[in-house]
This record gives sequence, C-alpha cells and structure tokens, in this order.
Amino acid sequence: MLSGKNLLLIISGGIAAYKVLEVIRRLRDRGMMIRAVLTEGGAQFVTPLSVAALTENRVYQDLFSLTDEAEMGHIRLSREADLVLVAPASADLIARMASGMANDLATTALLATNKPVLIAPAMNVEMWNHAATRANIATLESRGVMRIGPASGDLACGEFGSGRLSEPADIIAAVTDFFTARTAAKPLAGKRAIVTSGPTHEPIDPVRYIANRSSGKQGHAIAVALAAAGAEVTLISGPVALPDPSGMAVRHVETAREMMVAVQDSLPADIAVCAAAVADWRVASSAGQKLKKDESGQMPDLRFAENPDILAALGAPGPNRPALVIGFAAETENLLAHARAKLVRKGCDWILANDVTAESGTFGGDHNQIHLIRQDRPQDDDVWPRQDKKAVADHLVAQIIAHFAGTKP
Ligand code: CTP
Repeated sequence: MLSGKNLLLIISGGIAAYKVLEVIRRLRDRGMMIRAVLTEGGAQFVTPLSVAALTENRVYQDLFSLTDEAEMGHIRLSREADLVLVAPASADLIARMASGMANDLATTALLATNKPVLIAPAMNVEMWNHAATRANIATLESRGVMRIGPASGDLACGEFGSGRLSEPADIIAAVTDFFTARTAAKPLAGKRAIVTSGPTHEPIDPVRYIANRSSGKQGHAIAVALAAAGAEVTLISGPVALPDPSGMAVRHVETAREMMVAVQDSLPADIAVCAAAVADWRVASSAGQKLKKDESGQMPDLRFAENPDILAALGAPGPNRPALVIGFAAETENLLAHARAKLVRKGCDWILANDVTAESGTFGGDHNQIHLIRQDRPQDDDVWPRQDKKAVADHLVAQIIAHFAGTKP
C-alpha cells in the first residue's frame, strides 16, 4: 500500500521529535519515499544528519537556501508529495498553519501545498486544551486537514493528560488508512455532478435584500459525499457561512438568476441535486440607490417578478438533461401530496421531501427527516429516519450509487 508513495514529512519542535525517527524507519521499510523538512525548533531535538540517514534523502531546513531553491523549490517540494505529514505538530506550528503564515520553509510548504495534510499534534496538556489551540484545530479541520492524536498519558513536562505524540505504530496506521481509503472503490468515478446549495439573496436596493433561513449545510454535505464517492462535483452556493469544501469546484453566487447561469455553465452533468432554497421572486426593479424614508409616510411599493426555476430547467427534456435530476420539496403542510406534485411539475427523477415547519428544526438546523419519492416508483414511500445532514447526504449518495449500478437499494 505504501510502496512508492511520496511523503513530505515536516518535523517541528518538541521533545517527541525523537519518536519520528522510528516512524521514518518503519515507513521506509514499507517502501515509502520520504523528503523531510526540519524546522528550527525540530533541529533542537533531532539532528539533520539522523533524519537524512533514515530518509536516505537530503533534509530541507532553510527557506532561503539557494541550493534548495535551485535543486527543488519549496513549491515543488510541497506538490510532489502524495501526503504531507506534520509530526510532531507543535502548538506554534499549528497556530501558524491556521493563520496561513509562511515565515519558514515548513509553513511556506504547508501554505503552497495542494496535497492532503495529516498532523500529529504533541504538546503540554494545558496548551492542547487552550481555547486558542482548540480554535486553531477546528479551523484546520474545517479546511480538511486530518489529525492523528494526541494520545493521553504521562507528558515529557511531568504533567499528565492529552498531548502526547501518538505512538509510531498509530501514526503509521493513520498514514496507511489514508492511502487505503484513497484507493478504495470510487463508484461514481467518471460521473459529473452539480449541486446547488444555500439561500439566494435578492436585492431590494444596494443595502437590503430578501433572503431565507437556508444554511447550506445539507447541500454542502451532499456535495462532499458525492466527491467522496468519486464524482467530479461543482458546488454552486448562495451566500452561506460555511467554508468551501475541498476536492471540488465551488462557484459563489448571490441571486437566483446568477445561480441559473452558473448551473448552465456547469453542464453537461450526469447528476444534478438542487438543494438550494432559491427565492421564488425577486424585486422587479431593485433600486439603484438606497431607498430613503421621506416625510410622506408612504411605504415603498415593492413589486415582484418570478425567478427562473433552476430545477425545472434541469428536469426539462433535452440533450443536456442530466441522467438523474434530484430536487428537494421543503413543505410546511401536506408534505407528500405537495412533494409528488412538485416532482411532476419540475420534471425531476427524485424528490426529497422534508417538513420545514419551525418544530422540525430542519431549516438551518443539523438534522433532516426525508421522504424520498421517485418518479419511476411513485407509490414507494421511502421514509428515512431523522438523521444528521451528513448521514442524509451519505444515504442519498448510496441510493445514487445503487441507481447507476442498476441495483435496487
Ligand atoms: N428550486 C429551484 N429554482 C427555483 C425554486 C426552487 O431550483 N426558482 C428548487 C429547489 O432547489 C428545490 C425545489 O426546487 O430543489 C423545490 O423548492 P421549493 O422551495 O420547495 O419549491 P418551490 O418551487 O419554491 O415551490 P413552492 O414555493 O410552491 O413550495
């Protein structure tokens, strides 16, 4: 599994750095090619000579060393790896990664890399529990950085708790798991998918707009699950507070009309999932200047125009129609009847009907309760349990995989 794979290993400062020598030895035994970057702090704990001897490669230490830049620039160093492993990842390096600094070779390579990153933190328990470290870890994880450990136990500083560098065997298992998952079957490989997500904002004037409570959590989770199954995903998102998921193209739009253009630009596709809560109406002629109160007591006279229906456009017959068009039906009453009517009206293959009354907590919340209605099996009432939005996304993608495989889930 690891043979011939390239690892960029970044060793930062910490007493646990000595354990990384064992990690290098065992990864080399498994045939991994390792290039190491030793930070200034790391070099206080292990010598460049021992790292070079074990990796059987030169060790990179200095961002400004001309020989390094001539032989292999930091960009290439960060790009030629299949995986970047930071072990030990000190509190300081984690903080610099989270804030996007590039003030030494390690952080510059981490900022320049477009490869997956796995960190193995090691530090004192209070440093690990500090709100700053918690926030930095959350930031890195939201960007897709993977983590192993820290483990708990006796710490070098004499205290006890979470903060120990994971054991070499566990770090090696995490590296192996990464490559196993990556080479696992990708059942949607070769399929292109478009996912719309989030609300749209329809301007009233330059400072005001009409919006809705959609958070984008469900659409984004579906895009992530499709990408994990190997699909080539374009996520078209209205304004949301979520970070862009990695591993896909993300297009940001504001209005329904912009969303429609982005969807059409992203065709052809095999799969379209419309999870966006698109505003049905926009203000017919939004004001070029801020609407002002005058003394007359007269209210502004807002007139509405209908927005294009993106799902209906995707579902309409034609050469560009995706093979599987999936919509949502957000309803507050007569869920199934309204959802079935919507399925027919919008020409889609599947509708995921969900109750969005205030009590259901669906809109903006973390959970969803879905009834899947299929155009080819109208009487099947496929009711999913109430589950979190990631589980809903995984469930949907499992059904999509079964659909393309021609099996009945
Ligand atoms: N949708 C869309 N473009 C629109 C309106 C809705 O693509 N202009 C999609 C949504 O992404 C969703 C589905 O249509 O997949 C149903 O959205 P919903 O808001 O439930 O339905 P509406 O079309 O707005 O119908 P109604 O307001 O009558 O419930």
